[in-house]
Amino acid sequence: MEWLTIGDLAIRSGVATSALRFYETKGLIRSERTDGNQRRYLRATLRRVALIRAGQELGLSLAELADALETLPHDRTPTKTDWKRLSRTWRQRLDSQIAELIALRDELTDCIGCGCLSLKSCAIFNPGDAASSLGTGPRYLLGDTSEEFVKT
Ligand code: FES
Repeated sequence: MEWLTIGDLAIRSGVATSALRFYETKGLIRSERTDGNQRRYLRATLRRVALIRAGQELGLSLAELADALETLPHDRTPTKTDWKRLSRTWRQRLDSQIAELIALRDELTDCIGCGCLSLKSCAIFNPGDAASSLGTGPRYLLGDTSEEFVKT
């Protein structure tokens, strides 16, 4: 097993040593100590750090990341099966985020039910901001439909 210093880990992962220490205090990554009390990380920690960064960019909280990473072994390099198990815990969450992103990409030209009433299509799909009865925010981007409000 190859061990990295915190400096090595920071350079290769692109994450500051202060953030790595913070991840460690939150139990997201672990290190061993040398006789001189210096941290040493398994090279496999790079994959954990990469996942933490990717998860944060997707809006996952550190608590969610910690729960997921806790399913992985700390005492050995996680295998493909280990990662598969982890990805299953996130599949539903990521699928709904993907659906929201696709909706954002594809539906921005139409009324999104946000209450602005600024597009011609708002008069058809969100007359008088009827979508506000479904809740706050862009109701049609969040999965509600305008069917009951459509004025033909
Ligand atoms: S886009 Fe905002 S209410 Fe239609």
